Amino acid sequence: MIIAVDGPTASGKGTISKALAKHYGLPWLDTGLLYRAVGRQVALNGANADNSVEAVAACTFPDSLLDDPALRDEATGGLASRVSVHPEVRAALNKRQVDFANQPAGAVLDGRDIGTVIAPQADVKLFVTASAEIRAERRFKEMQARGATVDYETILADIRARDKRDTERANAPLKPAEDAHLLDTGNLTIGAAVQRAIALVDAKI
Ligand code: C5P
Repeated sequence: MIIAVDGPTASGKGTISKALAKHYGLPWLDTGLLYRAVGRQVALNGANADNSVEAVAACTFPDSLLDDPALRDEATGGLASRVSVHPEVRAALNKRQVDFANQPAGAVLDGRDIGTVIAPQADVKLFVTASAEIRAERRFKEMQARGATVDYETILADIRARDKRDTERANAPLKPAEDAHLLDTGNLTIGAAVQRAIALVDAKI
């Protein structure tokens, strides 16, 4: 069974995917982490994320970079969003994701283009959303809890900029697959959102 989970940043798709993987005993891949690793490698190289040649050069990052805590930073998320615009970067990362999706055990993958590009044959596709304001508030609380000095308006502006770049790019933009189930987590607790996701998957299998 392949479960594809797409959606914008801070929508809850990561938490939901992880819970689905645990519930169904499937391996899970957070594909955003691959783009974040490229963004981080760009920063380490002192390269320009908007230059496709320099961004492609950063695609050969060491696997150990995937464990770097700096991958979670907002700055790295912004760089990830910028490198992900280049078709050559997406092509360089696609095989790893397609192979993961097609392993015999099945898989849960979350990202932006899983249901549309990486695994259009997925058994279940979820598109997880929430308003930009709610997502900014979640990110704000999460960062505050980590002890970071944060400003809500700045986070909201960053989220809007990232949404705009992700949805408007020509190559594999963020959009629900035609056969995706929309799951708005805006008014749901994490527990309730996970239960809804499980119910949607159960209804398909
Ligand atoms: O999901 P996450 O916020 O970690 O992703 C970081 C960035 O990587 C996204 O803003 C998006 O631009 C890019 N991305 C992508 N395709 C994916 C996963 C992430 O373009 N499948």
